[in-house]
Order: sequence, then structure tokens, then C-alpha cells
Amino acid sequence: MSPQLHHGTLVTLEGGEGSGKSSQADALATLLREHDYDVTITREPAGTELGEIVKGIFQRGATVTPGAELLLFEAARAQHVQEVIRPALERGKMILCDRYTDSTLAYQGYGRGLSLDHLRAVNHIATGGLPPHFTILLDLPPEIGLARKDHETLGDSIGKESLEFHQRVRAGYLDLAQREPKRMVVVDASLAKDQVTQAAWQHLQRFLDQFR
Ligand SMILES: Nc1ncnc2c1ncn2[C@@H]1O[C@H](COP(=O)(O)OP(=O)(O)O)[C@@H](O)[C@H]1O
Ligand SMILES: [Mg+2]
Repeated sequence: MSPQLHHGTLVTLEGGEGSGKSSQADALATLLREHDYDVTITREPAGTELGEIVKGIFQRGATVTPGAELLLFEAARAQHVQEVIRPALERGKMILCDRYTDSTLAYQGYGRGLSLDHLRAVNHIATGGLPPHFTILLDLPPEIGLARKDHETLGDSIGKESLEFHQRVRAGYLDLAQREPKRMVVVDASLAKDQVTQAAWQHLQRFLDQFR
């Protein structure tokens, strides 16, 4: 890996609904900027016009099969990678991306039961083979995360899923982290916000120190 990788680095934030991904993306971006990193925050499935349209499809409450859900998210991802992520990485920026390929494995794989091998293949198509370089998993019992969110922001099909579904997603995320412990670190997201930030920041600094 090039010594400049820490500038063109894709860091992803993962975790269930209300686990604090958006809050921690903001907090980590502030810390990174204080340390002179040039950071862009972005998120799936928003981040592009197509992504906003896809989000709208889910919010309208149309019937969406697991396969259709997968391909809609992946379409938004393909657009997002090409339009936002790759150009920023090529300009040497660090990206903090709120949800990425692990969300597909956790939700459509462990949650909906689609084949992980198939999902990895579709992720590869959507990203053009761009994996996350480092991933922070915000781990939280789903009942706590869901209670943190207001009703409106849980208006899509996944927000209306059963507690068991969200428990499978959580267990899936932990399984993914166990399989790739160097890339994916687990942070206890039940702590107070600033304690979660401190834990995530320590992991991130340790990762970035490899390139100094
Ligand atoms: N560690 C925390 N403790 C308590 N509340 C939190 C914590 N982190 C985030 N929140 C609150 O929970 C809600 C969801 O957080 P958010 O960052 O939007 O999560 P996500 O993006 O993962 O859905 C927000 O109202 C946020 O202020
Ligand atoms: Mg969020």
C-alpha cells in the first residue's frame, strides 16, 4: 500500500438503526480535520440524486422483494461510488461513508437470507471492486437503537421490520467483524456519545498510524 493511502482512504461506519453512525461520522470528521486530514462525509443510499430517488421508493411503502431491495440499494451504490467516492479518493481525500457494502451483507444476507456469496458478487459490481479500507461497527442491541429513532425516520421497509430481523442483522455484523478483525473493529455503541467517539477514534488512529 502506498504511504499516501491514509489520504485516499475509504473508512465506513456500520451498525443498526440508531446505533450512532451519523453522529459519529460528524464527530470523527471534526477530530480528523483537527489532525489535518482532508475528510468528506457521505452516506448511502443518499449522497446522489439517484440515491435520493431510491430512498423515496422505499419511503413510499411499495412492495419490494428482497432481490428488488438489493438491486435498488446496489444501483444507488454504483452511482455513489462513481460520482462521489472515487473522485474524492482520487483527489486524495479521506472518505467517511455512513453505510457501505457490509450493510448489504448484514441486512440482505443475515437479515433477509440472501446468499452471502451472491451479495459479495453484486457488491463487487456496484463498487467496481472498491472495498472499504477500514470499518467501524457500532454495536448496539436493536431495541435501544430503534428507541433512539423517531417514528418518521423509520418510515421505510427496513425500519418497519421485526425485532428478530434487527437481531439477525446485529449478529450478522458481529460475525462479519469476527471474520475480518483487522479491517472491521467493534465499538460498544451503548455508551455515551463522546465515549463512543473516543473508542472509535482510538481504533481509527491505530489504523492510520500504519501509514505514517
Ligand atoms: N451514544 C449515544 N447515546 C444516546 N443517544 C445517542 C447516541 N448516539 C446517537 N444518539 C442519538 O440517537 C439518535 C440516532 O443517532 P444517529 O447518529 O442518527 O444514528 P444512525 O445514523 O446510526 O441511525 C439521534 O437522536 C442521536 O442523537
Ligand atoms: Mg444515520
